[in-house]
This record gives sequence, C-alpha cells and structure tokens, in this order.
Amino acid sequence: MFTEQDMQHSQLKSEEIPSGDNIPEHVAIIMDGNGRWAKARGLPRIAGHHNGMKAIKRITKAADRAGVKVLTLYAFSTENWKRPKAEVEFLMKLPQEFLSLELGELIENNVQVKMMGNRDLLPDHTLSAIEEAIRQTANNTGLILNFALNYGSRLEMVESAKLLARKVAAGQLDPETIGEAEFEQGLLSSGLPDPDLLIRTSGELRLSNFMLWQLAYSEFWFTEVYWPEFSDQHLYDAIREYQQRARRYGGL
Ligand code: IPE
Ligand code: IPE
Ligand code: MG
Repeated sequence: MFTEQDMQHSQLKSEEIPSGDNIPEHVAIIMDGNGRWAKARGLPRIAGHHNGMKAIKRITKAADRAGVKVLTLYAFSTENWKRPKAEVEFLMKLPQEFLSLELGELIENNVQVKMMGNRDLLPDHTLSAIEEAIRQTANNTGLILNFALNYGSRLEMVESAKLLARKVAAGQLDPETIGEAEFEQGLLSSGLPDPDLLIRTSGELRLSNFMLWQLAYSEFWFTEVYWPEFSDQHLYDAIREYQQRARRYGGL
C-alpha cells in the first residue's frame, strides 16, 4: 500500500526542483568525461572541456535554485599535469574565459567564488582571473562556488601535517592537543562544511584524490552521463536520491 507521501513522490515530475528540509548543504562534483564526450562526437578533447564549462554555468544555477549552499567543483587535479601540454594549457585558460563571461551574472546572483588548490604551479593569467573573481565576490552571501583547481587531497593533508609540525617545532603547539579540528584547520576546505553529497559523472567509480578527509561520511552518487551533458535534472535526481538516504554516522 502506498502512503500519501509515496504517492506524492511517485507523482513528482522529474523536472521539479527538490524541496524539503534535507537539501544537501554542500554538493561536491567530480566533473569527469569531457574527453569521452568529445570523442563520441568526433571532436577534439578540448571541445569537451569547452562544453564542460557550459555545464558549470548550468549546474551552478540549478544548485542555487535547489537551495544548495556550497558547490565544490573538481576542475583540475594535481595529477592532471601529466596530460599533454596543449590540453593543460587549454584547461588553464578556461577559468579566465568562464569568469570573463560569467562573473557579472555570478555577482548579480550573490554567488561567492572560492578556490581550493595549490596556487604555486598555476600560470599567472589563471590565478589572477580567479583571485579577481574571489575579490569581487568576497562580500556576497549566496551560494559558495568553490573551484578545486590544482587540487590533490594527499598533498593537502601533507601540507596540513607540515603546518602542525612547524608549530610543534617552534614550541607553539603541544602535539598531545592535536585533534581532528586542528588538522582540519590546515586543510584548504577549512571553514566549509564537509560535502553531504558527492557526485561523479562519466561512469568512473573512484575518488581520484578528491577530498579524502572531507568525504568520510558523504553520500555518493554516480552516473554514466558525461559532464558536458549533465543537466539540472541529473542534479535533481541525485539530490532526490540523497534525500531518501539514511545517514547514520556509525550510530543506529
Ligand atoms: C574531466 O574530463 C575534466 C578534467 C579532468 C580536467 P576528462 O578530461 O577527464 O575526460 P575523460 O575522462 O578523459 O573523458
Ligand atoms: C578527476 O578526473 C579530476 C577532475 C575531474 C578534475 P580524472 O579524469 O583526472 O581522473 P582519473 O585519471 O580518471 O582517475
Ligand atoms: Mg577523466
């Protein structure tokens, strides 16, 4: 027998925006499959990255509409430098292109841009575009759009450990007082809640060095859909499924 609630659920049209009080506060997405999307269409890989950029705009709006507070997007990993130079160069131009097209609208929509990743290796033109967007949106109070760019979770954790070690060596910190909170303070995501929902597109079932610490109790949702094709409806399907999950955190 269906309860009234089940009936309502089954009658939901897939294009409806999820509602209710358990909308994930932080959604993190491993945007994967740009290259395969392009290949399937006989296009160069960079065409996939270009269309992936359009998906970023779409999904940022869709997440905001659903009431998500933080959207973290894995845009470039510390391992992606292994790719051919031309592809890396193209990827490093995308933040500028994206922000020159979209920064105005992001500001209008009260979006706050952030970045987590190692800044040292990023080309100046990439970093300055992002720093400018961060600066111009710093006082915004709406959706936090957090780009993981030249991000690697292991590197991030090693850096946090180093920070603590330096404080201990300087006599400023007693190792016995180090707890999860102290370690977390040294992570690039410090100040943000842990992701509630992790999405990975393109059918790959792995984390690829993404937020290993922060995803400890996140709900995972995978889809075969390539990132350039990822739509509002896919996001909302993921959120609706998230809303059905029971998060127990080891309890009952
Ligand atoms: C994701 O798409 C974008 C980045 C990793 C920069 P890919 O470029 O990894 O696309 P596939 O996985 O090769 O299809
Ligand atoms: C993960 O995708 C990194 C980003 C989406 C930015 P990759 O395509 O680099 O991951 P692997 O190599 O398939 O694990
Ligand atoms: Mg990939």
